[in-house]
Amino acid sequence: MIRITNLQKSFLLGPKKNMVLKNVNLEINKGEMVAIMGRSGSGKSTLLNILAGLVKADSGSYHFDNNDVLKMDSNQVAEFRKCNIGYVFQNSVLIDTKDVYHNIVLPLKYSNYSKSEEKKKISLVLAALHIEKLKHNSIDTLSGGEGQRVAIARAIIQDPKVIIADEPTGSLDEKTEEDILRLFTIFNKQGKTIIIVTHNQKVADSCDRIFYIENGCCNLFTGY
Ligand SMILES: Nc1ncnc2c1ncn2[C@@H]1O[C@H](COP(=O)(O)OP(=O)(O)O)[C@@H](O)[C@H]1O
Ligand SMILES: [Mg+2]
Repeated sequence: MIRITNLQKSFLLGPKKNMVLKNVNLEINKGEMVAIMGRSGSGKSTLLNILAGLVKADSGSYHFDNNDVLKMDSNQVAEFRKCNIGYVFQNSVLIDTKDVYHNIVLPLKYSNYSKSEEKKKISLVLAALHIEKLKHNSIDTLSGGEGQRVAIARAIIQDPKVIIADEPTGSLDEKTEEDILRLFTIFNKQGKTIIIVTHNQKVADSCDRIFYIENGCCNLFTGY
């Protein structure tokens, strides 16, 4: 489903080039749940941003279902992202002038759904994430775990094929972390492909495979 070959990505650091991803090769199959680990600053978020089509690589290739994502123009990438990718950002920002319902419905505003279709979709994700009761809550009343559920709801409202999550349990207590992890496992059992960046070994261990980014390369983690 996802095939990345010889991918490179650098950022300019003043006059210097900061080579973040030097040579990334990665294949992820449909229906897999994989973890990406690595030190802070190793390029995990950068790789997720490339997978989501938010950042262009310098060179190499990225194929998604045999479509060459790096060759798409900006409209095509936007369409690709809308159809395929649900992204739970690190420190997901919810809009605190809108309630839970209106935060979750936001991505649908770029499609032409009727009000009743919108409502149906929202009901489904609210139920899936067990947050029906929070529907009309304002964002500042939510706990960390509840806020994360809303961020996940917003990411999956379009029913994406792939869910990308950047340290989704980073700031949560252990019990809440387990709840969130369970949700991802359920989505995975329902057929979603899941890519999680995590520092948490327990989260990583519940994935099918673990990749490790080090020195700009991404390798399968095969043991301790
Ligand atoms: N937009 C950007 N502009 C310049 N440098 C960036 C940008 N995004 C990331 N970087 C740099 O790329 C490196 C990897 O960052 P990142 O992918 O966020 O790492 P990780 O998520 O593994 O902590 C860091 O050195 C970071 O400073
Ligand atoms: Mg990061």
